Amino acid sequence: MIVALVVGARPNYMKVAPLYHAMKKHGRFNPLIVHTGQHYDFNMSEVFFKEFELPMPDFWLGVGSGSHAEQTAKAMMAFEKVCIDTTPLWVIVVGDVNSTLAASLVAAKLGIKLAHVEAGLRSYDRTMPEEINRLVTDALSDLLFTPSIDANENLKKEGIDSSRIFFVGNIMIDTFENERPKISRSDILLRLGKRHAEYFVLTIHRLSNLNNPELLKHFFSVLKNFTRQVSCVFPMHPNTRKKFLQNGLWDELVNMEGIIVTEPLSYIDFMYLIWHAYFVVTDSGGIQEETTYLGIPCVTLRQNTERPITVLEGTNELSNIENLPAHINKILSGNWKKGKIPLLWDGNTSTRILQTLVDYERRL
Ligand code: UD1
Repeated sequence: MIVALVVGARPNYMKVAPLYHAMKKHGRFNPLIVHTGQHYDFNMSEVFFKEFELPMPDFWLGVGSGSHAEQTAKAMMAFEKVCIDTTPLWVIVVGDVNSTLAASLVAAKLGIKLAHVEAGLRSYDRTMPEEINRLVTDALSDLLFTPSIDANENLKKEGIDSSRIFFVGNIMIDTFENERPKISRSDILLRLGKRHAEYFVLTIHRLSNLNNPELLKHFFSVLKNFTRQVSCVFPMHPNTRKKFLQNGLWDELVNMEGIIVTEPLSYIDFMYLIWHAYFVVTDSGGIQEETTYLGIPCVTLRQNTERPITVLEGTNELSNIENLPAHINKILSGNWKKGKIPLLWDGNTSTRILQTLVDYERRL
């Protein structure tokens, strides 16, 4: 079975790596890795291929940055050629980035079977570009692999036949468990001069948080207050750096006491960092899940989440910037919820996905 595994942006690699390795081991699959090039900096892309021991992508589409339409259209045009040349039996897409959407549209129009890993997540907020990507990808997919049971319910509400929906668990936990030995050996804290649980980790990259200068400045002053009490490690997305520079906040930020700003970190270093953090403040999707798995308190700077299970069962709470101090004080006073690990976040998701694909082909 020739299977095109599509990646484009940082949150994709950790979802495709366990599938690729499981397919290689299985014997019945011939996985091709197609990288759209949506992310292209070394530390947003290549470093993950090295750490996950993935081969160089079979196809590099070189799409790069641009408006949503531009990025999606370029990826579609290039991916269409790849599909015509390689005639995959399946296209497998993961997550919700623009590359996911582009590859899904191409596969559906060429009549190639499409599977979506991490299907069914909904924030019910269509101002998020990722929500549009999730809706379209799920509407087009032949097989929908969900990470949590709420996702099955979302899909059924949208009229997707339950025979196509498979609750397989969270593929990112496969990656964590596969990489656990390497993560345990990371020396990132030594390099940063930090000790276990004496710092919090901050990541912020969503345009809804970065595009409003007033909000960004407010956030900045809140941050300044807290880094006096507990120090902060802030691995920074390249776009976030640009926004801090544009708003004249950069110099003050990097000179602020109690804060270390780093380049985007590799997976191994980043996971070690959050595993041993006091708590995490983020606006990312995946980090909400990883902190829940590791039992680390997480405050998510968003009005909604497509991953409500991390709030209902895990260690995550949503917050705006106004309420951030109250949340952090709750963590510092030891009153944060403990949380539990959601069902099927067990490191065996890729095995279940492969079995479903094999069974599906057998039935035809
Ligand atoms: C994308 C995803 C988002 C995901 C995030 C993780 C979409 C719609 N969004 O957002 O869901 O959480 O990736 O990182 O697909 N840039 C660089 N170097 C790079 C990549 C980007 O400098 O390697 C800068 C460019 O200025 C670019 C900007 O970051 O314009 C935004 O990149 P883009 O791919 O459009 O979206 P992300 O914000 O990274």
